[in-house]
Amino acid sequence: MNRRIGKVRILSKVAENPTKCAIIYFSQTGNTKKVAEAICRGIRSASGQCDLLRIQDADIRNLTAYDLIGLGSPVFVFKPPINVSIFMSRMSALRGKPCFIFATHGGHPGNFMPAAAKILGRQGLVVIGTFDCDGDVTRPFYPYPFWTGGHPDEIDLEMVANFGKEMIERSQRISLGEQVPLPQFEWLKDSLYYRSVKVWDANKIRSKEFIVAMTLDRMKCTYPECHLCVDHCPMQAINLSVTPVVFRKGCISCLFCEKICPTGAIEINGDFIEKRWKIAAEGFKERGYPEFFQRAKTELIGNRSTLFRKLNEVDLNDPAKIYNRVRFQRPRFIIS
Ligand SMILES: Cc1cc2nc3c(=O)[nH]c(=O)nc-3n(C[C@H](O)[C@H](O)[C@H](O)COP(=O)(O)O)c2cc1C
Ligand code: SF4
Ligand code: SF4
Repeated sequence: MNRRIGKVRILSKVAENPTKCAIIYFSQTGNTKKVAEAICRGIRSASGQCDLLRIQDADIRNLTAYDLIGLGSPVFVFKPPINVSIFMSRMSALRGKPCFIFATHGGHPGNFMPAAAKILGRQGLVVIGTFDCDGDVTRPFYPYPFWTGGHPDEIDLEMVANFGKEMIERSQRISLGEQVPLPQFEWLKDSLYYRSVKVWDANKIRSKEFIVAMTLDRMKCTYPECHLCVDHCPMQAINLSVTPVVFRKGCISCLFCEKICPTGAIEINGDFIEKRWKIAAEGFKERGYPEFFQRAKTELIGNRSTLFRKLNEVDLNDPAKIYNRVRFQRPRFIIS
């Protein structure tokens, strides 16, 4: 009976004081942006107010006016990207505020959530919820179609909007002094994360081989008419207005500059791509990828994965066929 009375009291108080929420997100190919927008819709429909900010536009000092903070990001190499980690590690002015974390990824989020929660916890924020969602992967040396192709889809976005509503409700309950169970984070040891690493290890890739060699061909570059790579590098690692030019200073190998360059002036080392093609195709056939797909299907994405719809299109005997579509297209990705 008490619970019921408590609930009625909470809801009427909430209606008088809508929670102010800010969602800050990093997104390169748009997956995390879609999720951020859907969460925002969910929060607004639950009578909260919600502002949506790109990470590059967010000033942490202005976030103190908000009651609830949302942080969204793609997963990069099983963790938050470095620019996002740096942003989170500067949030101590928001100490004591509730926050939620969301991420998009290509099926192996790895230790993204525990790592993000650890950084935010150190800044004194209280993580009240997390959501991770499949997202298409457009890396040039990944198999294509990828098993999370087509995500986030409508069903994902509906779930995500409900997550937004849940976050607003949970933060309101907390602000009213109610004891609400908080998420616990477990660092993954025996998981798909390690499984995928084992597949790469089995193919004798050493960690230094994850570093991608890239070149900038000034003859093909049309700067200053084009300045896409300069504007969109998350680390401000490119400066083409100085001599000699700065290229990849503090680079995190996200490869976005290569993906968006309209002329092909930025190129990934061809040997690197060839090697990755071969290894991935072998992995597909022999080294556990069928099992990996199965696990991805049953444990992660269910039967909504476009990979399973498109698998017949993929010729595992010809790696080039898997990758050609993304490899020779220029630009590989058009920023909307
Ligand atoms: C540099 C880089 C590293 C990535 N590492 C992972 C990873 O470890 N696990 C994973 O599942 N997806 C990984 N991905 C895929 C992205 O997380 C996924 O495509 C994400 O949805 C992209 O988000 P965005 O469209 O908002 O930029 C990686 C992508 C990039 C560019
Ligand atoms: S790969 Fe390109 S866009 Fe990404 S951090 Fe490096 S220089 Fe910047
Ligand atoms: S995106 Fe390509 S063409 Fe444009 S400035 Fe960068 S290197 Fe030059």
